[in-house]
Amino acid sequence: RIPASLVSVSDYERLASEFLEPATLAYIAGGSGNEQSLRANIEDIARLSIRNRLLVDCAQGHTRVSLMGQGIAHPVLLAPVGHQGLVHRDGEVAVAQGAAATDTALIASTQATRRLEDIAAATDSPKWFQLYFQPRKENTLALVQRAEAAGYTALVVTLDTPVQSLSRRAQRAGFRLPAHCQPANLADFSVQDQPTTGAAGVFQGLMATAPGWQDLTWLLGQTRLPVIVKGVLDTDDAEQCQRMGIAGLILSNHGGRALDGVPSALSVLPAVRARLGAAYPLLIDGGIRSGYDVFKALACGANAVLVGRPQVYALAVAGALGVAHMLKLFRDELELCMALAGTPTVADISARCLAQDVHFTN
Ligand code: FNR
Repeated sequence: RIPASLVSVSDYERLASEFLEPATLAYIAGGSGNEQSLRANIEDIARLSIRNRLLVDCAQGHTRVSLMGQGIAHPVLLAPVGHQGLVHRDGEVAVAQGAAATDTALIASTQATRRLEDIAAATDSPKWFQLYFQPRKENTLALVQRAEAAGYTALVVTLDTPVQSLSRRAQRAGFRLPAHCQPANLADFSVQDQPTTGAAGVFQGLMATAPGWQDLTWLLGQTRLPVIVKGVLDTDDAEQCQRMGIAGLILSNHGGRALDGVPSALSVLPAVRARLGAAYPLLIDGGIRSGYDVFKALACGANAVLVGRPQVYALAVAGALGVAHMLKLFRDELELCMALAGTPTVADISARCLAQDVHFTN
């Protein structure tokens, strides 16, 4: 049973601290460097305000959207988040059950603690697989082929973290990934063929095997699935992806966990939208914590949004049920916001719904 006092996504965040070890919480909540980008995610959304338009007929309203040619019940997706076995025994499988209960699309992480086949089997809702390039091409290909066979309908290639170190918060708290939380989908690969974390010796270490544009071209030739790139913030990179046949982008600063000092995805979205055109699928993530935040992101030009940390907090507090409830809160709030803003469908949500001018220039 979900306690009646849990009425918002931030309630889950607050309560999660009672369910998690301080070091685990530091690992999940933390951002890289000075956490400038982590803060920007929250602050940039909070700065926007919504216009209420009166007396609009919303009787036929709904939240359905189409993404990658797939119908999706509402534009809030579960971001790929690795290591979820840290906070719940069933980890990513419980998250998938929560997604199924609310008809939410999920993106399963390469770093999941459960096998991608088991995650896929737990939900009938749309599911995409998030791919990290592996140091050996045959291992990358093996992951792609397993994802295709398991019923994933798009690949999300994350490119913003060829190197990543623990946040300072996590380091200070002495966080270490426990043995039972290793990435289950990489278990077949020999240890020296798995990426390791830690920023020591960046250029001679991880960057020596980090992917380049040619690897993205290679990937497009290996799969029949649409390929989406996650981690784009720069308009030139975005345009290059579009030109080479990438099916859509997830603008993201990795929840403030990649390069610190970069802007929020929300703040670069209008310029990227202007450059790539109205029809190109653009999703964003980072700091989306309510249905109102979802609305603002859609008004700035996103087709849909992803939520990262909220799923971990909900999973920690109440397992699959918590994830389902958290997603229902997002969906209900978005509906309420759409109704009060006079926008019966997602297609009706535009920059005109915001009190501020949004500049679609690049
Ligand atoms: C992530 N993120 C992430 N991204 C990805 O592509 N693959 C991954 O394995 C992970 N793992 C991961 C673990 C944890 C603990 C966090 C918090 C995040 C980033 C994630 O997909 C997303 O971009 C951010 O979480 C979005 O920001 P919010 O919603 O957490 O503010």
